[in-house]
Amino acid sequence: MPAIKIAPSILSADFARLGEEVRAIDRDGCDYVHIDVMDGHFVPNLTFGPAIIKAIRPYTEKPFDVHLMIDPAQPFLEDYAAAGADIITVHAEADTHLDRSLQVIRGLSKKAGVSLNPATPESAVAYVLDRVDLILVMSVNPGFGGQAFIEAQVEKVRRLRAMIGDRPIELEVDGGVNPETARLLVDAGANVLVAGTAVFGTDDYAQAIADLRPAA
Ligand code: DX5
Ligand code: ZN
Repeated sequence: MPAIKIAPSILSADFARLGEEVRAIDRDGCDYVHIDVMDGHFVPNLTFGPAIIKAIRPYTEKPFDVHLMIDPAQPFLEDYAAAGADIITVHAEADTHLDRSLQVIRGLSKKAGVSLNPATPESAVAYVLDRVDLILVMSVNPGFGGQAFIEAQVEKVRRLRAMIGDRPIELEVDGGVNPETARLLVDAGANVLVAGTAVFGTDDYAQAIADLRPAA
């Protein structure tokens, strides 16, 4: 089993102390910093954009895993790359020209990700498998932290893992991840787990991150 990566979502961090929060999860053992960008249009919530990402970039050297919940995404990809993103993930549902966006992201020398909402079937990525570095399965409807895990997504993770085969593609899951759901997801083939509430909702981030890595 490949090593499991934990990507705390700063959506649940204290926004007034964002830099320190990023430094804290870095110190406490995160693998990626998950950054939820929302536009109030593709999802019913609004968060932050490139200026804030650029401002927190000096607080860690860990990869910035930028999850774009924006429609359209393509006109802004260069801005997110310049702000310090390492992985840029777009939503299949938000992008009429997904194949092109993935090429643009790779052309910016960043890792290209595609995310699927809970109701979107895994077949949405069937013809871009050679253009993606990461697939992000939403196990809640995107927009807010702290929602209940949608169990049906475990089967989607299992099917995607089979579709991926031996390609070097990371399989990430986002929404309602806790130590219990983490175990189901890892057994199904996920290797990157996003967690907002399960990390920032506690006062011991190191313990919370450790608890999300299922024992081998
Ligand atoms: C939801 C975001 C998630 C969210 C997860 O739209 O993409 O990253 O922060 O939060 P929890 O872990 O609290 O479900
Ligand atoms: Zn996310």
